Amino acid sequence: MELIDGNAIAAALIAELKATVAAMPGRAPCLALVRVGEDPASVSYVRKKEKTAAEIGVTSRIILPPITITQVELETLIDELNADLSVDGILVQSPLPKHLDELAIFRRVAPSKDVDGFHTLNLGKVAQEDPTGFVACTPAGIMELLARSGVDLSGQHVVVLGRSLIVGKPVALLALQKKAGANATVTICHSGTRDLPSITRQADVLIAAIGRAEFVTADMVKPGAVVIDVGINRVTDPTKKTGYRLTGDVHFPSVSPLCSRITPVPGGVGPMTVAMLMHNTIKARRQNAAAI
Ligand code: GUN
Repeated sequence: MELIDGNAIAAALIAELKATVAAMPGRAPCLALVRVGEDPASVSYVRKKEKTAAEIGVTSRIILPPITITQVELETLIDELNADLSVDGILVQSPLPKHLDELAIFRRVAPSKDVDGFHTLNLGKVAQEDPTGFVACTPAGIMELLARSGVDLSGQHVVVLGRSLIVGKPVALLALQKKAGANATVTICHSGTRDLPSITRQADVLIAAIGRAEFVTADMVKPGAVVIDVGINRVTDPTKKTGYRLTGDVHFPSVSPLCSRITPVPGGVGPMTVAMLMHNTIKARRQNAAAI
C-alpha cells in the first residue's frame, strides 16, 4: 500500500502558483472570504485559506457578518462584492446557519467570481466540459491528486459514495469527462443505494464523500483499489488535548492494507482543496482582467 501524500502534492502546486502570481502583471489577485457565525470547522477552514493565500501572494479580504444577518442583507453584501472591481473571487463558507438559503446565496455570486464553482452556470460548464468555468475546489483537488499520483482513470470503474453539490456530483462529472486522465466508467452511490458493498467492491477507484466517520470498511473494498477519502469528521476522543480527533469516511486501519493507494485524513484531499481555491482565484483574476 502506498500513501497519497496530499500535503506534499499540494506544496508542489502551491509553489507553482506562487511563481505564477509573482509573474503576473498588475495588482495581486484578491479573494473575499465570507464566514457567517462561528462554526468551529468553518473558522479553521477559513483561517487555512487566509494563510495559504498569504503564502502565495493572493490578497484576502475576510468578511465576518454576524450570525443574525438576514438573507437580504447577505445578498446585498454579495452584490457589493460582485460589483467591486478590486475583488476577483468570492467564497461564502458552507454550511451557512439554518435560517439562510444557501443555494440562493451560491447562485447570487457572479459566475465570473464564483471560485467555489457552486453557481448553476459553473456546474453546468462542468457537465458541458467547458474549460472556461470554475470547477469546485474539492473535486478539482481530487482530480489533480490522482493525476499527480500517476493514476489514470481511463476505462476504470470509479465509484463515488455521496451525491452532494460540493463533492459527489461534480467529481462524478469530472471523472466522466472525455479527456486525458478522466474517461472513467462512473457509478454514484448514496443513502438510497441497495446492497452498497456489492457496488463499492467493483470500484477500481473508490471516492468516499458521505460525511460519516469510518463508514467504508474492508468488506466494501476490492483488493488493489485506489481509495480517496474526502471525509473530515470530528470524533470525540478524550485522550486528545482538543477532546476530538479527525477521521475520514474510510476505516483506515482495516482498509489501508487492502489498497494499492489511499489518501490519509488529515493530509490527503484537504490540502488540495485549498490549493485549488488559489488556482481558481488566479484564473478569475486573469479572466476578469482580460474582460475589462
Ligand atoms: N465547506 C466545505 N467545503 C467547502 C468548500 O469547498 N467551499 C465552501 N465555500 N464551503 C465549504
